[in-house]
This record gives sequence, C-alpha cells and structure tokens, in this order.
Amino acid sequence: MVAPASSTLIEMHGIERTYIMGDNKVYALRGVDLTIERGASIAIMGQSGSGKSTLMNIMGCLDQPTKGKYLLNGRNVATLSKAALADVRGRMIGFVFQSFNLLSRTARSRTSRCRSCIRASAVARATTARWPRSSAWA
Ligand SMILES: Nc1ncnc2c1ncn2[C@@H]1O[C@H](COP(=O)(O)OP(=O)(O)OP(=O)(O)O)[C@@H](O)[C@H]1O
Ligand SMILES: [Mg+2]
Repeated sequence: MVAPASSTLIEMHGIERTYIMGDNKVYALRGVDLTIERGASIAIMGQSGSGKSTLMNIMGCLDQPTKGKYLLNGRNVATLSKAALADVRGRMIGFVFQSFNLLSRTARSRTSRCRSCIRASAVARATTARWPRSSAWA
C-alpha cells in the first residue's frame, strides 16, 4: 500500500540568508518559519528590501539558505549540491516571471530557425496570456 502524500508541500524552519558585501554582512532573511499546504495559493508581501525575492529564490531552489531547513515535499533541499538542486528544480518547480526572461524579440528573430527558441517563445507567450500584466511579483 502506498502511503498518502502529506498535505504539506513546503516547510521552512529558521531560514537565514546572509550576503557578504566586502566587510559587511547583509541579513536578508533572519529566521523564516513557513508552511505551505499542497494546492494553496499564496502571496508574499512586504516592503522593498524585506527579503521577498531572496525568499522566492530559495523557495524556487535557485538559491540556498545560509542556515535553516527547507523541506520541499518532505526532502531537505537546503544542503543539496548544485546538480541535485537543479534536478529538483527541473522536476518540481515552475516559474512565471514578470518579464519573459527567455529570449528578447531581437534574439528570437535572429534565431528563428532554432526549434527550442521557438518553443521557448511560445511558452513565454502562453504565460503572459494567462497572467495580467499588472500581476505583482517579488
Ligand atoms: N545579491 C545580493 N547581494 C547583497 N545584498 C543583497 C543581494 N540580494 C539582495 N540583497 C539585500 O538583501 C535584502 C533583501 O533583498 P530582496 O531583494 O530580497 O528584497 P525584496 O523584498 O525582494 O525587495 P523589492 O521589493 O525591492 O524587490 C536587501 O537589503 C538587499 O539589498
Ligand atoms: Mg524583489
């Protein structure tokens, strides 16, 4: 018998992210605890510089915390190697960016024979068609 999947998809405990800027440390996140249930829709809000993008980067496995535990679908991804993290990203994470972040129109027209480029621009078009331009993202 297969055990039922937990209702929790994302669980963070004591997440910290520190950036080193020369002799200074920037404490972008200090001890974030967060639980997100499977199927939930959430918005992360806060003033500029409060750490939204830093948190989203960690949540999306683009970056890792300096300290703390991040369980994604029950697996601690806070300390994975870059290759393992890329694998998790490829299997579990989808990004919808505010801007295309794929190919500029100029680049697309220059590389119009490239199949993967055409696919990428089609995904970008489909993405923007589904989301209003005014959507707020971190
Ligand atoms: N790569 C970096 N190197 C150094 N400091 C950084 C870096 N990225 C972010 N920070 C700092 O970390 C803090 C949090 O930044 P972050 O970009 O996560 O905030 P934000 O809430 O997304 O802000 P905004 O609403 O302006 O996008 C800020 O003080 C920022 O200056
Ligand atoms: Mg931001």
